[in-house]
Amino acid sequence: MPTRHLSKDYPWVSSPPIISAPMSGFAGPALAHAVYKADGLGFLGGVPDMAALRTALEDVTGLVTGTRTPASGHTLPIGLGALLFAQKLEEVVALIAEFRPVAVWLFAAHESPDFALWTAEIRKVSANTKIWVQIGSVRGAVHLAQSCKPDVLVLQGADAGGHGGEKGAGIISLIPETLHALQRLELLDNISIVAAGGIADGSGVAAALTLGADGIVMGTRFLAAEETSVHPLYRAAILETEDGGQTTVRAKLFDELAGPNIWPKDFDGRALVAQSYKDHIEGISIAEIRKSHAEAKQTSHLGFDQENRRAAIWAGTGVGLVRERAPAAEIVTEIREAAKVTLRKALTNLE
Ligand SMILES: Cc1cc2nc3c(=O)[nH]c(=O)nc-3n(C[C@H](O)[C@H](O)[C@H](O)COP(=O)(O)O)c2cc1C
Repeated sequence: MPTRHLSKDYPWVSSPPIISAPMSGFAGPALAHAVYKADGLGFLGGVPDMAALRTALEDVTGLVTGTRTPASGHTLPIGLGALLFAQKLEEVVALIAEFRPVAVWLFAAHESPDFALWTAEIRKVSANTKIWVQIGSVRGAVHLAQSCKPDVLVLQGADAGGHGGEKGAGIISLIPETLHALQRLELLDNISIVAAGGIADGSGVAAALTLGADGIVMGTRFLAAEETSVHPLYRAAILETEDGGQTTVRAKLFDELAGPNIWPKDFDGRALVAQSYKDHIEGISIAEIRKSHAEAKQTSHLGFDQENRRAAIWAGTGVGLVRERAPAAEIVTEIREAAKVTLRKALTNLE
């Protein structure tokens, strides 16, 4: 029986399903809970510090249930992000066994077999926890569907803010081609498809649904949410930046600013074009760039200000559509309704 409907596993989620990305260091209990309350699906960002992750899980459990200790037999209606290259499997699995999040989102493994390993271990300790895997290629999606049989594949297009595959395509070709490939191999029946990358308003949601996605993820748009843990100058930079195709760039450089790059080899990240990046293009040495970055980090602006922007401000190409700070619930509700209006209008235009 096909289960390509997110509403079956997340019954409180309204259609079209809106999901907040597990942005490490940004997506904490307040954001995940606010998105959940707005009938979306909120994810906590995965962090390597297990004490911090436990506190986040306790806090969000408290927000959802009124008590910070999970009750036996419960499922927490919040998702949890996992960064495979940066976290220890046993430690994360122990927290999943205890808190039983409704979904765990796997991302960025050094070795592809790690996804199947994590999936098996998580399913062993928490049968109700659905497995989501984020990937940015048709081949990778097919391989994951075969090797670890996730419940959800998050197809991440090259427009996405933050980290992703160094090589990539926009969701406009990535989603349909992946759907065809999965369908050909009869792998699609039990896997839901979620779109990520460049979606920041109702028309983007409508487009992703039309491409065949069952739900949509936003990261950059939620950087404007009141509940997101983000420095005011970082948020200000997001709100004032337009024309994301010109003002953001994918580069490995952003992972080199504070020291050697620890991300898996095929990854880079999309961030605002900063002075550090311009220096890099000019041929200035990485040692010099790191020195200027460290100095900027010592200032009260932390390198986020326009005059001396040296820190990484992760953002997708949809950044120009992010115009104002707002409660997450407002963002979810407005975008959900705007998507429906856009779809109805498109149909009317066809008549
Ligand atoms: C600030 C920021 C931090 C992110 N951190 C993570 C992360 O820790 N784990 C992850 O799987 N994806 C992370 N992402 C990527 C998102 O999962 C998602 O693919 C992306 O935000 C979608 O594109 P959009 O930013 O255009 O909405 C991050 C994105 C941003 C903007």
